[in-house]
Amino acid sequence: QSTPAIPGYTMGQKSLAKAPFTLADLESLKKTLLFTEEDIRYLRMSRAILADQHEAILDVWYGFVASTPELVVYFKNNKTGAPDGAYLGAVRKRFGQWIADTADANYDQSWLDYQYEIGLRHTTPKKNKTDEADSVPLVNFRYLSALTIPVTTTLKPFLAKKGASAADVEKMHAAWVKSVLLQSILWSYPYIKDGQF
Ligand code: HEM
Repeated sequence: QSTPAIPGYTMGQKSLAKAPFTLADLESLKKTLLFTEEDIRYLRMSRAILADQHEAILDVWYGFVASTPELVVYFKNNKTGAPDGAYLGAVRKRFGQWIADTADANYDQSWLDYQYEIGLRHTTPKKNKTDEADSVPLVNFRYLSALTIPVTTTLKPFLAKKGASAADVEKMHAAWVKSVLLQSILWSYPYIKDGQF
């Protein structure tokens, strides 16, 4: 990635803990999700299509979170009780990078370790720490995989905006659904009792 430094984006940094799940575990999960080399090809096809649409996509995703009271609470400031604009803005920059990383589909150890980190950032050990936010201590588990559906449903029109065939749009969309579900499963690790992930 040659992106200018995004505050708090630490993929590939030595300071990151090693993921408690392995690349072999990842392969087994991919198999279970029917996630194949074809999905990798379609994710990578989506990269160029989405590249200049990140801000528009984030407007839609943030619009969904902002207009859903059950979700926006996870960004609220403890003192004011209102959504914390600085916190939302800081996370948004990393979310943009995540679109590119998801479309890159490079499943190496750095990527795996960053999945563990993202899970921690949704939970008590690390939520709020990266941006020094004063907000609620965790995102409740039940919403994590559920957000796969709005994220990928609202992405689909953006996949269709650059002239790809309807069949290719379907395949890119299916690959995104699998990838986001896969990631939300990996991010679940900190929520699960020891030995049960
Ligand atoms: C952080 C994606 C579920 C709230 C993030 C980040 C990404 C992301 C990419 C930034 C990671 C980084 O620091 O590099 C997703 C995806 C989800 C999901 C793809 C489900 C498929 C949720 C849900 C909520 C939520 C359901 C509830 C509103 C947050 C919050 C942060 C965050 C509050 C900031 C955490 C911190 O303090 O560092 N998410 N997320 N996320 N997400 Fe999610």
